Amino acid sequence: MLQVSTISELRQWRNQCNGKRIAFVPTMGNLHEGHLALVREAKKQADVVVVSIFVNPLQFAANEDLASYPRTPEDDASALIKEGVDLLFRPGVDEMYPRGRDAQTIVEVPVLSNVLCGASRPRFFRGVATVVCRLFNLVQPHVTVFGKKDYQQLMVIRLMTEDLGLPIEVVGVDTVREADGLAMSSRNNYLDESQRQQAIELYRILTAIQDCLLEKDVYHSSCEQAALLQLAQAGFRPDYISVRRQSDLELPQADDTALVILAAGWLGKTRLIDNLEVNLNLAG
Ligand code: PAJ
Repeated sequence: MLQVSTISELRQWRNQCNGKRIAFVPTMGNLHEGHLALVREAKKQADVVVVSIFVNPLQFAANEDLASYPRTPEDDASALIKEGVDLLFRPGVDEMYPRGRDAQTIVEVPVLSNVLCGASRPRFFRGVATVVCRLFNLVQPHVTVFGKKDYQQLMVIRLMTEDLGLPIEVVGVDTVREADGLAMSSRNNYLDESQRQQAIELYRILTAIQDCLLEKDVYHSSCEQAALLQLAQAGFRPDYISVRRQSDLELPQADDTALVILAAGWLGKTRLIDNLEVNLNLAG
């Protein structure tokens, strides 16, 4: 695996890829099985796989965990070598934002960026779209792989790609979970033992809403009403739990069948998110 940290090295490598199909997996590092599932999908999708590791300051608010975000460069590199990744791009902040963060051209995907996670993290999706757009232009992949764990992020990236006419296929991969159901996340590292136990409740509550929707076989807000309270009882400071439609994350209409339940909440200082797709079978 070639490891580069500058744009000029990346470009040099990219210029020698003539004709090969390139898959790209952007990450912030501290890699776990969830990230590696994306890398495995990328390998299926293309001849050559590029992974980036960049803890993107643009997507962290001043009060968030930019400084403490877990950084494990050696472990990450050896995991990627084992997976047969071809190129690891690990730029520094100056390489990505040479004129400084405030002078950086930004990419903003409206509407979708302002709801759910975007409502409590106002500049988050702008930071994500900006860094991913820049990385897309640098790597110039044919296909990119994102996790459904960050469902809204995946949709923001799909919309951005479509709106800007980028010739990149966006592939989504199912959430990889721990044995007890907790969605894998670098931020799970922040949890102490008792919070780690409480964290399981997030997935349990999502599956309870899923069961409720499947039982009614139609969207009904009664299924999500009790859930916020349950999340609070489990020790979370709930941010939101909401059933939306998969196509645009708008509130479901009576005849919508492809739904997704999205939730976010804090355990202490740690913000966890999760979601579950539900496909109703109204015709059946
Ligand atoms: P990061 O949190 O490192 O995640 C990188 C990719 O891994 C994202 O596509 C995310 O959805 C996916 N991922 C994380 N946990 C997963 C899990 N348990 N199962 C499946 N996929 C999972 O998301 C980011 O970084 C950043 O916002 C980034 C897109 C790199 C832009 O900075």
